[in-house]
Amino acid sequence: MSLQITVRSSTPLATALAADDELVVIGCWAFAGSSAKTDKGARRGKSAATKAGKGLSEPIAELVELDARFHGAVSAYARREDFKGKREQTLRVPTFGRVPARTIVLLGLGERDAKGVTPVEARSFAGRAARMAVTEKATALVVVVPSGIDAHLRQVAEGLTLGAYRFTKYLTGDRKPKESLSKVTVALTGKAPRDAKALTELGQRIGEAVNLSRDLSNEPANELPPAALAHAAQVVARANRLKVQVFDAKEIVRRKMHLLYAVGRGSRNEPRFVHLSYSPAGKAKKRLVFVGKGITFDSGGLSIKPAAGMGEMKHDMSGAGNMVGLMAAVAALKPSVEVHAIMACAENMPDGDAYRPGDIFGSLDGKTVEIINTDAEGRLVLADALAYAKALKPDLLVNNATLTGACLVALGSGCSAFYATSEDAAAEFGAAVKEAGEQMWRMPLIEELREAMRSDVADIKHTGDRYGGSITGALFLREFIGDVKNFVHADIAGPVTTERAFSWNPKGATGHGVLSYLSLVERAART
Ligand code: BES
Ligand code: MN
Ligand code: ZN
Repeated sequence: MSLQITVRSSTPLATALAADDELVVIGCWAFAGSSAKTDKGARRGKSAATKAGKGLSEPIAELVELDARFHGAVSAYARREDFKGKREQTLRVPTFGRVPARTIVLLGLGERDAKGVTPVEARSFAGRAARMAVTEKATALVVVVPSGIDAHLRQVAEGLTLGAYRFTKYLTGDRKPKESLSKVTVALTGKAPRDAKALTELGQRIGEAVNLSRDLSNEPANELPPAALAHAAQVVARANRLKVQVFDAKEIVRRKMHLLYAVGRGSRNEPRFVHLSYSPAGKAKKRLVFVGKGITFDSGGLSIKPAAGMGEMKHDMSGAGNMVGLMAAVAALKPSVEVHAIMACAENMPDGDAYRPGDIFGSLDGKTVEIINTDAEGRLVLADALAYAKALKPDLLVNNATLTGACLVALGSGCSAFYATSEDAAAEFGAAVKEAGEQMWRMPLIEELREAMRSDVADIKHTGDRYGGSITGALFLREFIGDVKNFVHADIAGPVTTERAFSWNPKGATGHGVLSYLSLVERAART
């Protein structure tokens, strides 16, 4: 069920008075607090707020009026609890029936940058507010948006939609949440802009698109074989008038995608190849092509993985799941660029018919590949997908995959690696990631590591040294892009899931990547 988001103009006090049995979350920028040194010049909200809050040693600008209603009890309580509006700081204020709102939560936003509030800060604040509402089991939420954040209504709606997300599909009885957050009021202290409704609707659609990627990633492998993943893409295409092509196992063989077929051979669930595309109404400024790894379960195949943590490999299709969400978001945005999304879907299982170490296969590109370790299956399915993608002559080609455990060793679980074959692509991709507020770090394509992939019996081996594993993966993929100049590979193995909720992400699948790719699309349409 979709959230109902409305925007209105109101003060925190009026909001709390009108919010019948609702949870009210009030965003508060950091303030000095009574114990900290009082640098009056640097403190924001000074003049008017300070005067109005006379009697409080350190007023919270956003709360002066509300505080007065409580005879200063709110600020006294905040002081006692040492709430200073720091980032990640929260304070739950019971209202004891003084106002209709059941609970007021103060959410710290940290220092407000003099250069202005970013869209990412707005999304993060709204995400935390929505997560708070879910934790408090509230069905209705009022978010009081402080100054600065009100300039980013689209991102506020994105954050609300993303923060309210939970994967509860398989819970029954007492475990099934009886009610969920269904109504959110965004209260602005200033006037609501005229396009408030359009902005929140767009933000909500983008949030829902990312949530769709999360849903696919969280879905267990028994419920989401390659055919079901391809079906999800078809559903999105139909709902949004996008073009979609799906190749089944027979068509995959007929088209000579031998590597994709090889990986899928060990599973009863046949592989699928998906090509989604969006074209703008007018002339397209650019053509962007995205590719995603869709291993619906990665057991490792005959080079089987250890039992511990194997269940996490249901998320190994997150790169492809991202493609479905990305295209839903693109359809909502209607940018003036052409966007293609390609998904290479297979299940990697051990079986009498499974591919083996030592096997040699041809590929769509023509190169032959010697199989070393059947657990390095991602780069194989992607090699065929990239060979298909290069024929589309992209201005920018972006691959995204949960490709290597080595990437987690290198950058930790909260940051992706990205590799680029041109400085232009690197700069553009890096800027998009920053704008989206995701964590990705550029890594080098170290040519020396290619040596270890030299094969005596085929054109190339598909794995190299044990060290530098994420880099070798990227180097292998690069072999299949032909003369495409601008290629970026994002190894998203870490951040596609999180063990700890943060910002706009709840526990589990995050949909990490979608927002960055969407920024890339928007930037391309802007120039
Ligand atoms: N899907 C895994 C990578 C992975 C590991 C993703 C942990 C998320 C968390 C991939 O298919 C894989 O198994 N890679 C191997 C490659 C190796 C055999 C060259 C790896 O990283 O160990
Ligand atoms: Mn694997
Ligand atoms: Zn894998």
